[in-house]
Amino acid sequence: MFTRHKITVIGAGATGATTAHLLALKELGDIVLVDVAEGIPQGKALDMWESCPIEGLSIKVLGSNDYEPTANSDILVVTAGMPRKPGMSRDDLLKVNADIVYQVVEKAAKLSPDSVIVVLTNPADVMAYVAQKASGFPHHRVIGQAGVLDSARFRTFLAEALNVAPKDVTAFVMGGHGDDMVPLVRYSYVGGIPVEKLLPKDTLDAIVQRTRTGGGEVLGLMKQSAFYAPGSSLAEMVKAVLNDERRVIPAICYLNGEYGEQDIYVGVPSILGGRGVEKVLEVDFTGDEAQQFKKSVASVRKPLSMLQY
Ligand code: APR
Repeated sequence: MFTRHKITVIGAGATGATTAHLLALKELGDIVLVDVAEGIPQGKALDMWESCPIEGLSIKVLGSNDYEPTANSDILVVTAGMPRKPGMSRDDLLKVNADIVYQVVEKAAKLSPDSVIVVLTNPADVMAYVAQKASGFPHHRVIGQAGVLDSARFRTFLAEALNVAPKDVTAFVMGGHGDDMVPLVRYSYVGGIPVEKLLPKDTLDAIVQRTRTGGGEVLGLMKQSAFYAPGSSLAEMVKAVLNDERRVIPAICYLNGEYGEQDIYVGVPSILGGRGVEKVLEVDFTGDEAQQFKKSVASVRKPLSMLQY
């Protein structure tokens, strides 16, 4: 009998393929890679599958242009979309990606009605909202990726400044996945010690700024959106859900009164487990942080209002 988890990754581009490969290496389940581009998902999936004997993996990887093979997936990862080009803001991508996300989620959700959906396509906070509407799923089963990646960038730069292992740095970034994101220095620790006690304010300010523009920094260098760290971020979220880990992870979650906000998807600390978002965690803000969070929420509401879902 088929007992392994089934994971569908929609979009077999740079991030989708990287995510699928990381998921394969973690042996989290059988993988179906879907894309509109003919031959691409099939070729990448076959290539990945052929690495399984070498890696010692007992999974199957399949590529497809249609959705039938995705039926009864436990999780749907949405990376389909247009990538951001240099000089293009995340909001420029809005309408194009909203149509793509609506279309692919509508098809995939029908075939996997009990799945959890994780959305990466940018602007991810808005696309999570679109994906929920397209699927009709309960809000806790539709999540967006932003915080794991933004926090990972924050943690990397903090670890570099402190010359310590990145895994010993815990930090989180809230708010929209854009230039208005809110990296919370006050809630950032290294081995349990607040980073504010270890680094001067000007260094921390510079790290916050570099985190905010982290995506643009990679884009500027290679003229293509980042995909390694985004892939790792998605794989971590998929693992948390499939293994019901109840990880405390920053994710784009639906707010229904939390933080005084209604009917919006935005980045907040959450508990991720088998049901998707098990709980949104509410943290105290200073006046300045509260203001930054509000500004960030407004930057998600504006594009959302342009879409009329
Ligand atoms: N159905 C399925 N796949 C689609 C569709 C669709 N309707 N439209 C586009 N795609 C596929 C493209 O064919 C491409 O293979 O989505 C893939 C996107 O991959 P890349 O262009 O390599 O983009 P990537 O860097 O992976 O980023 C994916 O995340 O960061 C965001 O804005 C970025 O929307 C982009 C997404």
